[in-house]
Amino acid sequence: MSQRTLVIIKPDGVRRGLVGEILGRIERKAGWRISALEMRELDRSLLEQHYGEHVGKPFYEPLVEFMSSGPVVVLVVEGERVIEGLRTLAGPTDPIAAGPGSIRGDFGTIVRENLIHASDSEESAERELKLFFPTVG
Ligand code: RTP
Ligand code: MG
Repeated sequence: MSQRTLVIIKPDGVRRGLVGEILGRIERKAGWRISALEMRELDRSLLEQHYGEHVGKPFYEPLVEFMSSGPVVVLVVEGERVIEGLRTLAGPTDPIAAGPGSIRGDFGTIVRENLIHASDSEESAERELKLFFPTVG
């Protein structure tokens, strides 16, 4: 089942020079392909749409501050079961709970600064792809 998902390497990943490491892990999964990729700075209105489910939660404002604190790398990844697969590769939200071998487990310690976003369902992937890459279709 080939799918597409939206991935963001968060500002901590870019600042710490982990872009190559993270892209390499994605590229090495058999049959997965990066089909769009760009470095960008995200503004508050885009982030409000992207993280709409979290508006009003205590961590929302610090999350937006963090996500707009520097450049990110946004990409589209295509391939077999890539939505579930990228969530597995990323690991759980809390990097201390994330197992070794996952991106968050290997490189993170702070819940907010957890290096990577990946769409959490087919519906989220479709919505986020349109939001970040309106021309990709
Ligand atoms: P993401 O949406 O970024 O892929 O992460 P996720 O699904 O694993 O986690 P989610 O619950 O959607 O939370 C979005 C992001 O908000 C930050 N966060 N901080 N308690 C906290 O301080 C807290 N909880 C969540 C993290 O950056 C998380 O990835
Ligand atoms: Mg999420």
